[in-house]
Amino acid sequence: MLRNDQLDQWDRESFFHPSTHLAQHARGESPNRVIKTGSGVHIEDRDGQRLLDAFAGLYCVNVGYGRSEIAEAIAQQAHELAYYHSYVGHGTEASITLAKMILDRAPKGMSKVYFGLGGSDANETNVKLVWYYNNILGRPQKKKIISRWRGYHGSGLVTGSLTGLELFHRKFDLPVEQVIHTEAPYFFRRKDRDQTEEQFVAHCVAELEALIAREGADTIAAFIGEPILGTGGIVPPPAGYWEAIQAVLRKHDILLIADEVVTGFGRLGTMFGSDHYGITPDIITIAKGLTSAYAPLSGSIIGDKVWKVLEQGTDENGPIGHGWTYSAHPIGAAAGVANLKLIDELGLVENAGKVGAYLNQAMRDALSDHPHVGEVRGDGLLCAVEFVKDKDSSLFFGPADKIGPQLSAKMLEQSKVIARAMPQGDILGFAPPFCLTNADADEVVAATVNAVEAVFG
Ligand SMILES: Cc1ncc(COP(=O)(O)O)c(C=O)c1O
Repeated sequence: MLRNDQLDQWDRESFFHPSTHLAQHARGESPNRVIKTGSGVHIEDRDGQRLLDAFAGLYCVNVGYGRSEIAEAIAQQAHELAYYHSYVGHGTEASITLAKMILDRAPKGMSKVYFGLGGSDANETNVKLVWYYNNILGRPQKKKIISRWRGYHGSGLVTGSLTGLELFHRKFDLPVEQVIHTEAPYFFRRKDRDQTEEQFVAHCVAELEALIAREGADTIAAFIGEPILGTGGIVPPPAGYWEAIQAVLRKHDILLIADEVVTGFGRLGTMFGSDHYGITPDIITIAKGLTSAYAPLSGSIIGDKVWKVLEQGTDENGPIGHGWTYSAHPIGAAAGVANLKLIDELGLVENAGKVGAYLNQAMRDALSDHPHVGEVRGDGLLCAVEFVKDKDSSLFFGPADKIGPQLSAKMLEQSKVIARAMPQGDILGFAPPFCLTNADADEVVAATVNAVEAVFG
């Protein structure tokens, strides 16, 4: 096949790709993929290869590719007003409308929306606001943030620290000292195989209580968590987890930040993951699904309790010293408005719930009994298959075996289906666009089964 090799050369010579083995890429030892177009659940590369994207980019193209309604809204906004800032009370019709639409869809008790650009900067904002909040309340020592091992909250200085994956800390001098980690609610990987789910939740609670006791509740400002662990392995919480954790946080006056960058706007079949699992957050992080990634935009939804203190803070200290040039960028906001309208019009939240249940069941039926499949799990339109060396003893493969990457490469090669080899453990992750059909789900499951047969024989 004829290739535009100039592009390949420029890529290797010029482009610093995120989350990539830099040396291998520069040497040409790993593939470079140039994606050209997309439609519905499919993308197409420059060679005309059509791939079913069962991870919706990075679980973000929720309405699917090629939606002209959003493209046109972006174009119209760019023609009318590509940019104006939102400092000192400025706004645009799109940004104001979007803030209202978000609050109309958010869980109860939410007061205002601050707009950023991506999930990482939204969580940086959240941490700063929590610190400000406690300073205004006269509790300058109450500043630490508890995150979970395997949580993913971004890759900035504080957010990379919140992220509970060693790869994001090693050699970067992270985590920073204000961030501390507690046990991940990962029942399948519990140490004591005899533990019931209930006992495991009690164990997670005991670990959290012990951490709070060690550090002192008066030093801890907030707890951050994804309703369902995402990048850490797509792990739904064990039954009763969130109820029990929230009771501990309330007892110690610790704020709860629900990081809904993946779950916000429908992925679990409900508008927010907080609704789905009975979570009552003080702050909610949103990004990805807010615009379905048609333009970069994120947000921090601030609950009433925190908002009142922020207002008090500005009465005492003057305007809030926080903002980005691109906060509430009109083009992102226009994309957000069009995206949320489309989600409603097409009933995509409901579809995510229905097709998600179908995909999870079909994956379980096809693979649960396989000797190297430890667990098939998921919720809504999130699904994961975790592979083990030995099922009975739950013995895991080593990182050098590269089972996850081998499987995802086979799926691509044999079936033209994209699944994500999750970064920690041998886990294939699925998070397709919400417009997936049952027939597409069957194709994804068949591709997975074929790859499993090819890799394990
Ligand atoms: C739950 C969660 N929070 C935050 C982020 C960071 O978002 P971004 O990559 O847009 O900075 C991600 C990204 O995957 C995420 O999954």
